Amino acid sequence: MAHITHIPRRADAPMPRCAFLGLLLLLGCIDNGEFGDYRYRSDMHEQVSFKHHEDPRPPVKGTVPVTGYESPIRDSVTAARLINPLRSSASDAGAAKFLYETHCSPCHGLGAKGDGPVAAKFQVPPDLTDQKYRRASDGYLYYIIRHGRLIMPPYYEGVKARERWMIVNHLRTLQK
Ligand code: HEC
Repeated sequence: MAHITHIPRRADAPMPRCAFLGLLLLLGCIDNGEFGDYRYRSDMHEQVSFKHHEDPRPPVKGTVPVTGYESPIRDSVTAARLINPLRSSASDAGAAKFLYETHCSPCHGLGAKGDGPVAAKFQVPPDLTDQKYRRASDGYLYYIIRHGRLIMPPYYEGVKARERWMIVNHLRTLQK
């Protein structure tokens, strides 16, 4: 049986390669893609894609949402003629309450009395259980939600048409 005196180490051969890789690594760390005024690498920074927090590309003129275009309501007289397409059914009463509490209660309060937590720091909104608003038509309330009023924000973007009618129905419940 032969006596093995020397087992060639695998590391013997690749030594120079290691050094080379190390050098590349070092260059990679200090390299910013520039050499004097010459920029030889841009890290794909200069390209047409959008960067973090950059405004989205504006839609092509005339683009409408896939849910269709809802034309603005001209005035309160037109609004009063709008027909509420939803009967105040108990089935979506929970969802309607949720929508009201999400979008309206911060200012108007859970009971629509105008006592939401934001109201005190903002502008106190009217009591929506008041006779004036009990007498107002569904269409008028819908119109206010869609377009807002003075400093009250409009809800034509974040709240869909059907959801606005649901909120109207919830207001009616609160007014009882
Ligand atoms: C940021 C606070 C705020 C939020 C949120 C808000 N409102 Fe208002 N709202 C007001 C203020 C303030 C007024 C009084 C505006 C004015 O000076 O006429 C008002 C007025 C109204 C009126 C009475 C309009 C009139 O003709 O007198 C209605 C109805 C109404 N809001 C419904 C809603 C509903 C429904 C929501 C939720 C979709 C909502 N508001 C969300 C602040 C708010």
